[in-house]
Amino acid sequence: MGKSLQPHSGSSPPHFPLRQATRNYLRTSTILTLALIGVSAVAFFHYAPALSWDAAPPFKFYANITRPQNICVGVRGDASSYSGYIGLEGDNPESHRRSFFWYFEAEEDPTNAPVILTFGGGPGTTGMLKPLGSVGPCILSPNGTVPNPDRITERFNMLALDHPIGTGFSYGRVVNNSYDAALDVYDFLQKFFALFPHLSKNQLIITGGSYGGMFIPNVATVIQERNEALSHKDTGAVRINLESLMISNPISDPVSHYRWLLYFYCELHSVYDKDTCAAMYAKLPDCLDLIEMSLQATGFSESANAARRAARTACSNIAWGGDTHGVVVEDVRRTCHEENSLDCFPLFKWIEQYFRDPAVKRALGVPPSFNYTALSASVSDAFSVTADVMLPAHLMYEPLLAKGIRVLHYIGAQDGNCAWPGVLSFLKLLRTPFQRPFNGAPDVPWPTPDSDTVTVRAIGDGAGNMTYILIKEAGHFPSQDQPALVKDIMEHWIYNISWFQPVTEVSR
Ligand SMILES: *[C@@H]1O[C@H](CO)[C@@H](O)[C@H](O)[C@H]1NC(C)=O
Ligand SMILES: *[C@@H]1O[C@H](CO)[C@@H](O)[C@H](O)[C@H]1NC(C)=O
Ligand SMILES: *[C@@H]1O[C@H](CO)[C@@H](O)[C@H](O)[C@H]1NC(C)=O
Ligand SMILES: *[C@@H]1O[C@H](CO)[C@@H](O)[C@H](O)[C@H]1NC(C)=O
Ligand SMILES: *[C@@H]1O[C@H](CO)[C@@H](O)[C@H](O)[C@H]1NC(C)=O
Ligand SMILES: *[C@@H]1O[C@H](CO)[C@@H](O)[C@H](O)[C@H]1NC(C)=O
Repeated sequence: MGKSLQPHSGSSPPHFPLRQATRNYLRTSTILTLALIGVSAVAFFHYAPALSWDAAPPFKFYANITRPQNICVGVRGDASSYSGYIGLEGDNPESHRRSFFWYFEAEEDPTNAPVILTFGGGPGTTGMLKPLGSVGPCILSPNGTVPNPDRITERFNMLALDHPIGTGFSYGRVVNNSYDAALDVYDFLQKFFALFPHLSKNQLIITGGSYGGMFIPNVATVIQERNEALSHKDTGAVRINLESLMISNPISDPVSHYRWLLYFYCELHSVYDKDTCAAMYAKLPDCLDLIEMSLQATGFSESANAARRAARTACSNIAWGGDTHGVVVEDVRRTCHEENSLDCFPLFKWIEQYFRDPAVKRALGVPPSFNYTALSASVSDAFSVTADVMLPAHLMYEPLLAKGIRVLHYIGAQDGNCAWPGVLSFLKLLRTPFQRPFNGAPDVPWPTPDSDTVTVRAIGDGAGNMTYILIKEAGHFPSQDQPALVKDIMEHWIYNISWFQPVTEVSR
């Protein structure tokens, strides 16, 4: 089913750049000083049988890319996509570090369409949930994929990444914190844009949720810092056109997260009963004190890791230590009594069935022996050693917002895993040019003034520089619960259109 992408096969769509890259390489092979051409050349080189890692790093890398056929049929027929592996820093013939990606081309004008980069939460959750669970050209059902009317790939390119290494189909030595993971994403993007150079000029928007609240500020910060470094010194890397971030139900600030969690569990809802609430409130001061103490240490020294682990142990007891009587924490409207709580989320089962199907693996260019894990224990174990989750990642939004990177939070209100009061709380704490107006602004009903199922707090012109959307009828995975609504939100956000105007042809 899958057709391997060969530079001379003649099957590439007209805008695909590999042929051009090949010619550049041949013409300039003796003066390979222009690193960017070097990248394309090396990337091309890997489609030939011989592999070699001898050339100057970092621009020689492994890539093996396929054009999947007939495994994701959308409303307009077979989705146009590319999938495969890119070798990251540390990848060598003896020891592999390879990221799996699936890049879906926009149906309209993919050459110029913004690129939405998505990865999972976790840490260790597959990045394929977003395309195949809610907003891709096809989505999973109990019996495989079906065309998705609510796809955002109508007008946007979507690049889904199994991140960090060890997640999904990505494999090799794992990292143990979000910063090192972000360096890997930067490395991945440089190499991806070397393979798809026409995309590097397009707007890049990063989206994710849950543990993505840790990953995304780190990735955006690394990109921003490297872009700034590029303006001083040409390192051969491309400037990454990072435009904005779209985040759903995150954990980014453990202090706000835990300070407000019991308010959600006990006051707004009855996730815990009265006795459990009393017991958990009694533990809260210890949790908050230990977080504050862990913040005195910085970095990933053993003592800093140990301080954060102590805080995490005290705090996760509050979040996960009590009996919810079947209430599903990720969506408190639901109850579920499955022994394995993952069975309450059939999408995880469907996605593993799909990616373990030998025909799907073949089409994606994944070797048959590779095992797909929607939730990687090895990644979450590695991260748990540093207790990365207790770091104040939200503070990274301050310089990003001040420098013009727009930040959207769209939050499912029924989620008790990353509950909205903790999110709104840390957003209010951010010291940015938007702090005063943000904290004073109302949550305005949207789209119609007489409905309060969705509210918007947008600071800045258009769709805002700093915007907070609360979705009443959604839980931890808003795009799964409300795909059409989330599509509308993403289109407004990316096209930067006021929330009170429709997205029309004119506004695009
Ligand atoms: C899809 O799966 C369901 C439940 O397993 C089954 O009842 C149904 O017949 C299947 N539909 C198709 C089209 O195969
Ligand atoms: C985390 O990873 C780094 C880099 O691989 C390693 O040096 C460090 O020892 C790891 N930390 C722990 C606590 O295992
Ligand atoms: C590329 O992937 C295909 C499909 O898994 C595999 O058969 C082939 O050996 C790979 N090529 C390289 C150079 O790794
Ligand atoms: C994949 O899983 C199977 C069955 O659990 C196991 O035998 C095999 O070694 C695994 N493959 C890899 C590459 O880990
Ligand atoms: C809002 O974002 C835009 C686009 O990035 C930027 O030009 C503008 O300066 C930002 N506004 C403020 C007040 O920072
Ligand atoms: C968003 O739209 C507003 C109003 O049209 C404009 O002032 C602002 O510069 C735009 N921001 C971006 C990033 O395009």
